[in-house]
Amino acid sequence: MRLYASIVSLLLAASSISAAPAKIAREVEKELPDGLPYPSPSELSLIEQAAHGTLPNGPAPPVVSNKGITNLKLIAFNELFEVAFFHELLTNITENVEGYRFTDSGDRDFVSRALKAILAQEELHAIRANNALVHFGQTPIEPCEYTFPVQDFDTAIKLASTFTDVVLGTLQDAVERFAIGGDFDLSREIASVIGNEGEQQGWFRIMQAHIPSELPFLTTSDLNFAFTAVQGFTVPGSCPNIDEIPLRTFEKLEIITPPKAESQNLTFSFNDPQDESEHLLWVTYVNQLNVPTVQPLHIISREGTRVEGSALFPYSDYELNGLTIAAVTKSDGPFSDVNTVAKWTLAGPGLIIID
Ligand SMILES: *[C@@H]1O[C@H](CO)[C@@H](O)[C@H](O)[C@H]1NC(C)=O
Ligand SMILES: *[C@@H]1O[C@H](CO)[C@@H](O)[C@H](O)[C@H]1NC(C)=O
Repeated sequence: MRLYASIVSLLLAASSISAAPAKIAREVEKELPDGLPYPSPSELSLIEQAAHGTLPNGPAPPVVSNKGITNLKLIAFNELFEVAFFHELLTNITENVEGYRFTDSGDRDFVSRALKAILAQEELHAIRANNALVHFGQTPIEPCEYTFPVQDFDTAIKLASTFTDVVLGTLQDAVERFAIGGDFDLSREIASVIGNEGEQQGWFRIMQAHIPSELPFLTTSDLNFAFTAVQGFTVPGSCPNIDEIPLRTFEKLEIITPPKAESQNLTFSFNDPQDESEHLLWVTYVNQLNVPTVQPLHIISREGTRVEGSALFPYSDYELNGLTIAAVTKSDGPFSDVNTVAKWTLAGPGLIIID
């Protein structure tokens, strides 16, 4: 059981970071690596080597639907963020930044090798989406400046696992939108990428001592939720052409109570510039491919535009394992699917991961 042994030693290594001389946190790198977003042919071939594979080399489809273009823009926007994240994570490990040191050099080598491939694979996803936009006569999506709320390896992996869960849900929405638009070649391509992101997720989960496969049917999401979630990691005003992405940005939803695997009241906090909380509001939960469930939001306090409220998280009634997406909604539904939830959302997504 070499695999099991190496996982255990990895977990030990990550939690017993050595007390080597402290390195001052370096300047946050603003530039994306490897010539992104527009690598030269030689840079691209190095990326492909690091990714263990190539961009698809067949002809691109001649036409795309309008919904399909929005998909490609959101995918490029998200993948550029992932490139920035994995680049910074790998750099932190390579430069032995405090919080990113391993006691076992074998573990460090394996993690670095895995992250190098993930970074290059995400680079190819980003390049592919932007190439497709250019092919269809659209402006490619430009990267932003990013900031990540993590200071050590374990927290970084937990964050990677959280946003990968959102991506795995959102790409389901992208496939459906491509299907509605008749963009069948692109649907196949997204299915291929979903598998890649799922492989990454299995590894992120193992490093957190979770079993690798999360749910039989992964929680679904909506493009608008991913669009808002990614903006949580961008420096405001730093995204050159974000206004060309025709999606909604919701108010940020914070979950104050750490959720547990039991039914409990959770406290939520969000901004309410339009005083929507003077009317009734609800918290709607999306889990797996089930019909969303709705709970009344009880307002606790209002200070300026900041609102705090509580709502039941009905874990036990619905077995809300894996990712649950919470949203403060202006309607109590009933909602047939996640897209209808997004239409009525004021604040969200709140991300809850149990097990
Ligand atoms: C890299 O390390 C710096 C310094 O601790 C930290 O501020 C940053 O969030 C880290 N980034 C990632 C992706 O781990
Ligand atoms: C949640 O709060 C309500 C009152 O707002 C209370 O009646 C209910 O028992 C609480 N539920 C749990 C599981 O704590």
